[in-house]
Amino acid sequence: MSWQDGDIKKAFQARRHKPWTVGYETPVSADMQTGPLEVTGKLPKDLQGVLYRNGPAMHDRGAGRYAHKWDGDGMIQAFRFADGTVTHTGRFVRTKKFQAEEAAGEYLLSAFGSAVPGKTELNTDIDEMNSANLSAVYHAGRLLALWEPGSPHELDPETLETKGIYRADSPELLRPFSAHPKIGTNGHGDLWNFGSDPIASELSVYKLSATGAVKVCRRFAVKDLPPMHDFAVTRNHLVFLLPPALFDREKLIAGKAFGLSVNWTPELGTRVLVIDKRSWEQTWYQLPAWIIHHVGNAWEDDDEVIRFDVFANAEPQAMATGWNVMRGKYVHVQGPVMTLVELRAGRSPQVTRFDTLEGEFPVIDPALSGRDYEQVLCVARNPGRPSGMPDWGDLASFDVKQGTIQSYGFGDDWIAEEHVYAGRNSQWAVGTALDTVQRRTVISVFNVHHVGDGPVAQVRLPYALPLGVHGTFRAV
Ligand SMILES: [Fe+2]
Repeated sequence: MSWQDGDIKKAFQARRHKPWTVGYETPVSADMQTGPLEVTGKLPKDLQGVLYRNGPAMHDRGAGRYAHKWDGDGMIQAFRFADGTVTHTGRFVRTKKFQAEEAAGEYLLSAFGSAVPGKTELNTDIDEMNSANLSAVYHAGRLLALWEPGSPHELDPETLETKGIYRADSPELLRPFSAHPKIGTNGHGDLWNFGSDPIASELSVYKLSATGAVKVCRRFAVKDLPPMHDFAVTRNHLVFLLPPALFDREKLIAGKAFGLSVNWTPELGTRVLVIDKRSWEQTWYQLPAWIIHHVGNAWEDDDEVIRFDVFANAEPQAMATGWNVMRGKYVHVQGPVMTLVELRAGRSPQVTRFDTLEGEFPVIDPALSGRDYEQVLCVARNPGRPSGMPDWGDLASFDVKQGTIQSYGFGDDWIAEEHVYAGRNSQWAVGTALDTVQRRTVISVFNVHHVGDGPVAQVRLPYALPLGVHGTFRAV
Protein backbone atom coordinates (compact mmCIF):
# COMPACT_ATOMS: atom_id res chain seq x y z
CA MET A 1 0.00 0.00 0.00
CA SER A 2 1.14 3.51 -0.64
CA TRP A 3 -0.20 7.03 -0.95
CA GLN A 4 -0.86 6.23 -4.63
CA ASP A 5 -3.28 3.42 -4.03
CA GLY A 6 -5.23 4.74 -1.13
CA ASP A 7 -3.81 4.25 2.37
CA ILE A 8 -3.70 7.99 3.06
CA LYS A 9 -7.11 8.53 1.50
CA LYS A 10 -8.51 5.85 3.81
CA ALA A 11 -6.89 7.33 6.91
CA PHE A 12 -8.24 10.79 5.99
CA GLN A 13 -11.77 9.50 5.30
CA ALA A 14 -11.82 7.88 8.75
CA ARG A 15 -11.14 11.26 10.40
CA ARG A 16 -13.37 13.52 8.35
CA HIS A 17 -15.68 13.99 11.31
CA LYS A 18 -13.10 16.53 12.52
CA PRO A 19 -14.33 19.86 11.10
CA TRP A 20 -10.82 21.18 10.34
CA THR A 21 -10.21 18.44 7.76
CA VAL A 22 -12.36 20.49 5.34
CA GLY A 23 -9.22 22.57 4.80
CA TYR A 24 -7.47 19.60 3.21
CA GLU A 25 -10.22 18.43 0.88
CA THR A 26 -9.90 18.69 -2.89
CA PRO A 27 -12.33 21.14 -4.55
CA VAL A 28 -15.06 19.39 -6.54
CA SER A 29 -14.46 21.64 -9.54
CA ALA A 30 -11.23 22.69 -11.26
CA ASP A 31 -12.79 26.11 -11.95
CA MET A 32 -14.98 28.02 -9.51
CA GLN A 33 -16.86 31.28 -9.76
CA THR A 34 -19.37 33.03 -7.53
CA GLY A 35 -20.67 36.48 -6.65
CA PRO A 36 -21.37 39.28 -6.15
CA LEU A 37 -21.39 38.24 -2.51
CA GLU A 38 -23.18 39.75 0.43
CA VAL A 39 -21.01 41.94 2.62
CA THR A 40 -21.31 42.19 6.40
CA GLY A 41 -20.09 45.56 7.67
CA LYS A 42 -18.85 48.14 5.21
CA LEU A 43 -16.21 47.65 2.52
CA PRO A 44 -13.88 50.68 2.39
CA LYS A 45 -14.46 52.75 -0.74
CA ASP A 46 -10.77 52.87 -1.64
CA LEU A 47 -10.47 49.10 -1.58
CA GLN A 48 -10.73 48.42 -5.32
CA GLY A 49 -8.69 45.61 -6.73
CA VAL A 50 -7.98 41.90 -6.57
CA LEU A 51 -6.67 39.71 -3.79
CA TYR A 52 -4.87 36.80 -5.48
CA ARG A 53 -4.01 33.74 -3.43
CA ASN A 54 -2.31 30.46 -4.30
CA GLY A 55 -2.10 27.12 -2.58
CA PRO A 56 -1.99 23.34 -3.07
CA ALA A 57 -5.48 22.09 -3.84
CA MET A 58 -5.42 18.84 -5.85
CA HIS A 59 -4.81 16.72 -2.78
CA ASP A 60 -6.58 13.67 -4.28
CA ARG A 61 -6.51 12.14 -7.74
CA GLY A 62 -7.83 8.72 -8.77
CA ALA A 63 -7.13 6.28 -5.97
CA GLY A 64 -4.28 8.40 -4.66
CA ARG A 65 -4.07 11.06 -1.98
CA TYR A 66 -0.83 12.96 -1.51
CA ALA A 67 1.20 12.36 1.63
CA HIS A 68 2.06 16.03 2.28
CA LYS A 69 -0.01 19.20 2.37
CA TRP A 70 2.40 21.03 0.02
CA ASP A 71 2.12 18.47 -2.79
CA GLY A 72 -1.18 19.34 -4.47
CA ASP A 73 -1.37 21.29 -7.71
CA GLY A 74 -1.69 25.04 -7.29
CA MET A 75 -5.09 26.69 -7.46
CA ILE A 76 -5.23 30.46 -7.84
CA GLN A 77 -8.05 32.28 -6.11
CA ALA A 78 -9.01 35.80 -7.16
CA PHE A 79 -11.26 37.87 -4.90
CA ARG A 80 -12.29 41.02 -6.77
CA PHE A 81 -13.31 44.04 -4.74
CA ALA A 82 -15.32 46.55 -6.79
CA ASP A 83 -18.15 48.97 -6.02
CA GLY A 84 -18.94 47.57 -2.60
CA THR A 85 -19.10 43.91 -3.58
CA VAL A 86 -16.76 40.94 -3.89
CA THR A 87 -16.70 38.14 -6.45
CA HIS A 88 -14.60 34.98 -6.38
CA THR A 89 -12.91 33.03 -9.15
CA GLY A 90 -10.70 29.98 -8.59
CA ARG A 91 -8.71 28.08 -11.24
CA PHE A 92 -6.06 25.42 -11.16
CA VAL A 93 -2.80 26.43 -12.78
CA ARG A 94 -2.59 24.36 -15.96
CA THR A 95 1.00 23.24 -15.54
CA LYS A 96 2.41 20.43 -17.71
CA LYS A 97 2.08 18.21 -14.65
CA PHE A 98 -1.56 19.12 -14.06
CA GLN A 99 -2.45 18.45 -17.68
CA ALA A 100 -0.58 15.14 -17.87
CA GLU A 101 -2.07 13.86 -14.62
CA GLU A 102 -5.54 15.16 -15.47
CA ALA A 103 -5.39 13.17 -18.73
CA ALA A 104 -4.06 10.04 -16.97
CA GLY A 105 -6.49 10.25 -14.05
CA GLU A 106 -3.68 9.50 -11.62
CA TYR A 107 -0.50 10.99 -10.19
CA LEU A 108 2.52 10.36 -12.43
CA LEU A 109 5.33 12.31 -10.79
CA SER A 110 6.92 12.78 -7.39
CA ALA A 111 6.02 15.81 -5.31
CA PHE A 112 7.67 17.39 -2.26
CA GLY A 113 6.39 14.82 0.21
CA SER A 114 5.23 11.95 -2.01
CA ALA A 115 7.64 9.87 -4.09
CA VAL A 116 6.77 8.10 -7.36
CA PRO A 117 9.57 5.57 -7.91
CA GLY A 118 11.70 6.47 -10.93
CA LYS A 119 10.07 9.90 -11.36
CA THR A 120 12.11 12.07 -9.04
CA GLU A 121 14.11 15.29 -9.12
CA LEU A 122 17.20 13.22 -10.08
CA ASN A 123 15.89 12.01 -13.43
CA THR A 124 13.03 14.33 -14.37
CA ASP A 125 13.06 17.87 -15.71
CA ILE A 126 12.03 19.96 -12.72
CA ASP A 127 9.39 21.91 -14.64
CA GLU A 128 7.69 18.63 -15.60
CA MET A 129 7.11 18.31 -11.83
CA ASN A 130 6.24 21.97 -11.29
CA SER A 131 2.97 22.32 -9.35
CA ALA A 132 3.02 26.17 -9.19
CA ASN A 133 1.34 26.01 -5.80
CA LEU A 134 2.99 28.35 -3.28
CA SER A 135 2.48 32.01 -4.02
CA ALA A 136 0.89 34.53 -6.34
CA VAL A 137 2.91 37.64 -7.19
CA TYR A 138 1.97 40.62 -9.35
CA HIS A 139 4.95 42.38 -10.93
CA ALA A 140 5.53 44.42 -14.08
CA GLY A 141 1.90 43.91 -15.11
CA ARG A 142 2.19 40.15 -14.85
CA LEU A 143 0.54 37.67 -12.52
CA LEU A 144 2.93 34.87 -11.61
CA ALA A 145 2.24 31.61 -9.80
CA LEU A 146 5.40 30.59 -8.00
CA TRP A 147 6.70 27.28 -6.79
CA GLU A 148 10.20 26.81 -5.35
CA PRO A 149 12.45 24.42 -7.29
CA GLY A 150 11.11 25.30 -10.76
CA SER A 151 10.22 28.25 -13.00
CA PRO A 152 7.44 30.81 -12.51
CA HIS A 153 4.17 30.32 -14.42
CA GLU A 154 2.48 33.35 -15.95
CA LEU A 155 -1.31 33.67 -15.72
CA ASP A 156 -3.80 36.04 -17.25
CA PRO A 157 -4.63 38.43 -14.36
CA GLU A 158 -8.25 38.74 -15.50
CA THR A 159 -9.22 35.21 -16.52
CA LEU A 160 -6.55 33.30 -14.50
CA GLU A 161 -5.81 31.27 -17.64
CA THR A 162 -2.32 29.79 -17.64
CA LYS A 163 -0.01 31.31 -20.25
CA GLY A 164 2.93 29.00 -19.48
CA ILE A 165 6.43 29.09 -18.06
CA TYR A 166 7.74 32.64 -17.59
CA ARG A 167 11.39 33.54 -18.27
CA ALA A 168 11.11 37.27 -19.06
CA ASP A 169 13.82 38.25 -21.55
CA SER A 170 16.31 35.79 -20.08
CA PRO A 171 18.16 33.30 -22.30
CA GLU A 172 18.21 30.94 -19.32
CA LEU A 173 15.15 29.65 -17.51
CA LEU A 174 14.53 31.51 -14.24
CA ARG A 175 14.80 28.44 -12.06
CA PRO A 176 14.92 27.57 -9.29
CA PHE A 177 12.80 30.61 -8.45
CA SER A 178 11.55 30.84 -4.86
CA ALA A 179 7.99 31.73 -3.84
CA HIS A 180 9.25 34.80 -1.93
CA PRO A 181 10.58 37.52 -4.21
CA LYS A 182 11.00 40.95 -2.60
CA ILE A 183 9.65 43.86 -4.60
CA GLY A 184 10.65 47.51 -4.24
CA THR A 185 13.54 47.17 -1.79
CA ASN A 186 15.36 49.98 -3.61
CA GLY A 187 12.24 52.08 -4.13
CA HIS A 188 12.07 51.50 -7.89
CA GLY A 189 9.83 48.46 -8.14
CA ASP A 190 12.69 46.04 -8.83
CA LEU A 191 12.11 42.42 -7.90
CA TRP A 192 14.85 40.42 -6.17
CA ASN A 193 14.55 36.68 -5.83
CA PHE A 194 16.66 33.62 -5.21
CA GLY A 195 16.53 29.90 -5.83
CA SER A 196 18.09 27.14 -3.80
CA ASP A 197 19.17 23.93 -5.54
CA PRO A 198 20.43 21.57 -2.83
CA ILE A 199 20.98 18.79 -5.37
CA ALA A 200 23.59 20.87 -7.24
CA SER A 201 24.48 22.84 -4.06
CA GLU A 202 23.93 26.01 -6.09
CA LEU A 203 22.30 29.29 -5.07
CA SER A 204 20.73 31.46 -7.77
CA VAL A 205 20.10 35.19 -7.43
CA TYR A 206 17.83 37.24 -9.73
CA LYS A 207 16.92 40.86 -10.17
CA LEU A 208 14.10 41.89 -12.48
CA SER A 209 13.57 45.57 -13.25
CA ALA A 210 10.25 47.34 -12.64
CA THR A 211 9.39 46.60 -16.27
CA GLY A 212 10.30 42.93 -15.96
CA ALA A 213 13.72 42.92 -17.65
CA VAL A 214 16.23 40.48 -16.15
CA LYS A 215 19.11 42.56 -14.76
CA VAL A 216 20.80 39.89 -12.66
CA CYS A 217 20.86 36.11 -13.01
CA ARG A 218 23.84 34.75 -11.09
CA ARG A 219 24.66 31.31 -9.73
CA PHE A 220 26.84 30.71 -6.66
CA ALA A 221 28.29 27.39 -5.51
CA VAL A 222 27.57 27.07 -1.76
CA LYS A 223 28.81 24.10 0.24
CA ASP A 224 26.03 22.03 1.87
CA LEU A 225 23.27 24.27 0.57
CA PRO A 226 19.99 23.18 2.20
CA PRO A 227 16.51 23.72 0.77
CA MET A 228 15.57 27.34 1.61
CA HIS A 229 12.14 28.85 1.39
CA ASP A 230 12.53 32.58 2.08
CA PHE A 231 15.25 35.23 2.34
CA ALA A 232 15.73 38.87 3.31
CA VAL A 233 16.69 41.87 1.19
CA THR A 234 17.93 45.28 2.32
CA ARG A 235 19.14 48.30 0.36
CA ASN A 236 22.58 46.78 -0.23
CA HIS A 237 22.40 43.17 0.91
CA LEU A 238 20.79 39.78 0.39
CA VAL A 239 20.49 37.62 3.51
CA PHE A 240 20.15 33.83 3.35
CA LEU A 241 19.36 31.70 6.38
CA LEU A 242 20.66 28.15 5.89
CA PRO A 243 18.92 25.84 8.36
CA PRO A 244 20.77 22.68 9.42
CA ALA A 245 18.33 20.46 7.50
CA LEU A 246 20.78 19.20 4.90
CA PHE A 247 19.77 17.43 1.72
CA ASP A 248 20.75 13.75 1.60
CA ARG A 249 21.06 12.46 -1.99
CA GLU A 250 21.24 8.84 -0.82
CA LYS A 251 17.78 9.06 0.70
CA LEU A 252 16.33 10.40 -2.55
CA ILE A 253 18.05 7.62 -4.50
CA ALA A 254 16.67 5.09 -2.03
CA GLY A 255 13.13 6.21 -2.91
CA LYS A 256 12.29 8.69 -0.17
CA ALA A 257 10.39 11.83 -1.12
CA PHE A 258 12.47 15.00 -1.49
CA GLY A 259 10.93 16.44 1.68
CA LEU A 260 12.14 13.41 3.62
CA SER A 261 15.60 13.40 2.04
CA VAL A 262 17.12 15.68 4.65
CA ASN A 263 19.12 15.21 7.83
CA TRP A 264 18.63 17.46 10.85
CA THR A 265 22.16 18.33 12.01
CA PRO A 266 21.70 20.90 14.79
CA GLU A 267 25.42 20.98 15.60
CA LEU A 268 25.86 23.02 12.40
CA GLY A 269 23.55 25.75 13.68
CA THR A 270 21.86 28.05 11.20
CA ARG A 271 24.45 29.46 8.82
CA VAL A 272 23.77 32.98 7.60
CA LEU A 273 25.12 34.09 4.24
CA VAL A 274 25.06 37.81 3.52
CA ILE A 275 25.80 38.84 -0.07
CA ASP A 276 26.61 42.45 -0.91
CA LYS A 277 24.55 43.42 -3.97
CA ARG A 278 27.21 45.93 -5.06
CA SER A 279 30.28 43.66 -5.02
CA TRP A 280 28.84 40.11 -4.59
CA GLU A 281 31.16 39.83 -1.60
CA GLN A 282 30.05 37.17 0.90
CA THR A 283 30.00 37.37 4.72
CA TRP A 284 28.99 34.53 7.03
CA TYR A 285 27.35 34.61 10.46
CA GLN A 286 26.12 31.91 12.79
CA LEU A 287 22.71 31.57 14.47
CA PRO A 288 21.22 28.79 16.64
CA ALA A 289 19.80 25.68 14.93
CA TRP A 290 16.39 26.68 13.67
CA ILE A 291 13.81 25.55 11.19
CA ILE A 292 13.36 28.80 9.28
CA HIS A 293 9.89 29.82 8.25
CA HIS A 294 9.13 33.26 6.83
CA VAL A 295 10.86 36.61 6.97
CA GLY A 296 8.59 39.66 7.30
CA ASN A 297 11.03 42.43 6.44
CA ALA A 298 14.68 43.47 6.66
CA TRP A 299 16.49 46.77 6.51
CA GLU A 300 19.91 48.30 7.17
CA ASP A 301 20.88 51.59 8.74
CA ASP A 302 23.58 53.98 7.52
CA ASP A 303 26.24 51.84 9.23
CA GLU A 304 24.92 48.82 7.30
CA VAL A 305 23.74 47.04 10.44
CA ILE A 306 21.11 44.62 9.14
CA ARG A 307 17.91 43.98 11.11
CA PHE A 308 15.14 41.56 10.21
CA ASP A 309 12.26 39.57 11.68
CA VAL A 310 11.75 35.87 11.08
CA PHE A 311 9.50 33.11 12.37
CA ALA A 312 11.96 30.48 13.56
CA ASN A 313 11.48 27.19 15.36
CA ALA A 314 14.11 25.45 17.44
CA GLU A 315 11.91 22.33 17.66
CA PRO A 316 12.17 20.39 14.39
CA GLN A 317 9.37 17.94 15.28
CA ALA A 318 6.83 20.42 13.92
CA MET A 319 8.05 19.39 10.45
CA ALA A 320 5.93 16.24 10.72
CA THR A 321 2.71 18.28 10.72
CA GLY A 322 2.53 18.60 6.93
CA TRP A 323 2.34 14.82 6.61
CA ASN A 324 -0.01 14.26 9.56
CA VAL A 325 -2.77 16.64 8.49
CA MET A 326 -3.16 14.81 5.18
CA ARG A 327 -4.22 11.79 7.26
CA GLY A 328 -6.55 13.91 9.38
CA LYS A 329 -4.15 13.76 12.34
CA TYR A 330 -3.00 16.66 14.45
CA VAL A 331 -1.56 17.14 17.91
CA HIS A 332 0.00 20.51 18.54
CA VAL A 333 3.74 20.81 19.11
CA GLN A 334 5.67 24.06 19.47
CA GLY A 335 5.50 26.12 16.27
CA PRO A 336 7.71 28.97 15.05
CA VAL A 337 7.98 32.12 17.17
CA MET A 338 8.63 35.73 16.22
CA THR A 339 12.36 36.38 16.33
CA LEU A 340 14.27 39.61 15.70
CA VAL A 341 17.86 39.40 14.47
CA GLU A 342 20.55 42.05 14.18
CA LEU A 343 23.69 41.43 12.08
CA ARG A 344 26.65 43.72 12.72
CA ALA A 345 29.99 43.18 10.95
CA GLY A 346 32.61 41.53 13.15
CA ARG A 347 30.15 40.65 15.95
CA SER A 348 27.93 37.72 16.83
CA PRO A 349 24.32 38.24 15.77
CA GLN A 350 21.91 39.60 18.36
CA VAL A 351 18.73 37.57 18.74
CA THR A 352 15.48 38.49 20.51
CA ARG A 353 12.76 35.84 20.67
CA PHE A 354 9.13 36.65 21.42
CA ASP A 355 7.85 33.35 22.78
CA THR A 356 4.41 34.87 23.30
CA LEU A 357 4.00 35.23 19.53
CA GLU A 358 3.76 31.77 18.01
CA GLY A 359 2.71 32.45 14.45
CA GLU A 360 3.44 32.46 10.75
CA PHE A 361 2.90 34.31 7.45
CA PRO A 362 4.49 37.65 8.43
CA VAL A 363 3.55 40.42 6.02
CA ILE A 364 4.58 44.07 5.84
CA ASP A 365 3.40 47.22 4.10
CA PRO A 366 4.89 46.69 0.61
CA ALA A 367 5.90 50.38 0.48
CA LEU A 368 8.35 49.65 3.33
CA SER A 369 10.02 46.62 1.77
CA GLY A 370 13.72 46.76 2.66
CA ARG A 371 13.26 49.90 4.80
CA ASP A 372 12.89 50.73 8.46
CA TYR A 373 9.46 49.54 9.63
CA GLU A 374 7.36 48.99 12.72
CA GLN A 375 4.47 46.70 11.94
CA VAL A 376 4.32 43.06 10.92
CA LEU A 377 0.95 41.41 10.36
CA CYS A 378 0.85 37.67 10.90
CA VAL A 379 -1.39 34.82 11.91
CA ALA A 380 -0.96 33.69 15.49
CA ARG A 381 -1.82 30.77 17.71
CA ASN A 382 -3.26 31.74 21.03
CA PRO A 383 -2.09 29.55 23.95
CA GLY A 384 -5.65 28.43 24.70
CA ARG A 385 -6.26 26.93 21.24
CA PRO A 386 -7.25 23.25 21.55
CA SER A 387 -4.22 21.02 20.95
CA GLY A 388 -6.14 18.96 18.36
CA MET A 389 -6.81 22.04 16.24
CA PRO A 390 -4.10 22.81 13.67
CA ASP A 391 -2.69 26.11 12.56
CA TRP A 392 -3.68 29.56 13.80
CA GLY A 393 -6.91 31.20 14.93
CA ASP A 394 -5.81 34.85 15.25
CA LEU A 395 -4.67 37.72 13.10
CA ALA A 396 -1.94 39.63 14.97
CA SER A 397 -0.16 42.93 14.56
CA PHE A 398 3.37 42.94 15.97
CA ASP A 399 5.35 46.12 16.62
CA VAL A 400 9.02 45.29 16.05
CA LYS A 401 10.15 48.48 17.82
CA GLN A 402 8.06 48.07 20.97
CA GLY A 403 7.73 44.27 20.99
CA THR A 404 3.97 44.63 21.52
CA ILE A 405 1.20 42.47 20.06
CA GLN A 406 -2.39 43.30 19.19
CA SER A 407 -4.59 40.49 17.96
CA TYR A 408 -8.06 39.47 16.87
CA GLY A 409 -9.31 35.93 17.45
CA PHE A 410 -11.51 34.40 14.73
CA GLY A 411 -12.30 31.51 17.06
CA ASP A 412 -11.12 28.03 18.03
CA ASP A 413 -13.00 26.46 15.11
CA TRP A 414 -11.43 28.82 12.59
CA ILE A 415 -8.15 28.71 10.71
CA ALA A 416 -6.74 32.15 9.92
CA GLU A 417 -4.74 32.52 6.73
CA GLU A 418 -2.29 35.14 5.48
CA HIS A 419 -3.64 38.72 5.38
CA VAL A 420 -1.94 41.28 3.16
CA TYR A 421 -1.92 45.09 3.05
CA ALA A 422 -4.27 46.77 0.61
CA GLY A 423 -5.88 50.07 -0.31
CA ARG A 424 -4.64 53.64 -0.41
CA ASN A 425 -1.72 54.13 2.03
CA SER A 426 -1.93 50.40 2.86
CA GLN A 427 -4.56 51.19 5.46
CA TRP A 428 -6.36 47.86 5.15
CA ALA A 429 -5.46 44.23 5.59
CA VAL A 430 -7.37 41.65 3.57
CA GLY A 431 -7.19 37.91 3.79
CA THR A 432 -9.07 34.67 4.18
CA ALA A 433 -10.01 32.50 7.13
CA LEU A 434 -11.75 29.16 7.18
CA ASP A 435 -14.82 28.67 9.36
CA THR A 436 -14.40 24.92 9.68
CA VAL A 437 -17.78 24.23 11.34
CA GLN A 438 -19.85 26.18 8.81
CA ARG A 439 -17.52 24.95 6.03
CA ARG A 440 -17.15 28.43 4.56
CA THR A 441 -14.14 30.51 3.55
CA VAL A 442 -14.52 34.08 4.81
CA ILE A 443 -12.74 37.15 3.46
CA SER A 444 -12.09 39.85 6.08
CA VAL A 445 -11.01 43.46 5.85
CA PHE A 446 -9.23 44.98 8.87
CA ASN A 447 -8.01 48.48 9.55
CA VAL A 448 -4.27 47.72 9.96
CA HIS A 449 -4.02 50.28 12.78
CA HIS A 450 -6.83 48.61 14.76
CA VAL A 451 -6.48 44.88 14.15
CA GLY A 452 -7.64 44.14 17.69
CA ASP A 453 -11.02 45.75 16.97
CA GLY A 454 -11.84 43.00 14.48
CA PRO A 455 -12.81 43.23 10.82
CA VAL A 456 -14.60 46.27 9.41
CA ALA A 457 -16.16 44.04 6.75
CA GLN A 458 -16.50 40.34 5.99
CA VAL A 459 -17.65 38.37 2.98
CA ARG A 460 -18.67 34.73 3.24
CA LEU A 461 -18.17 32.40 0.29
CA PRO A 462 -20.85 29.76 -0.30
CA TYR A 463 -18.15 27.07 0.00
CA ALA A 464 -14.88 26.23 1.73
CA LEU A 465 -11.66 26.61 -0.23
CA PRO A 466 -8.70 24.38 0.55
CA LEU A 467 -6.26 26.15 2.87
CA GLY A 468 -3.93 28.26 0.77
CA VAL A 469 -0.47 29.67 1.22
CA HIS A 470 0.51 33.14 -0.05
CA GLY A 471 -1.09 35.96 -1.96
CA THR A 472 -0.94 39.59 -2.94
CA PHE A 473 -3.31 42.51 -3.44
CA ARG A 474 -3.32 44.25 -6.81
CA ALA A 475 -4.98 47.66 -6.71
CA VAL A 476 -6.96 48.54 -9.86
FE1 LIG B 1 6.17 30.68 2.04
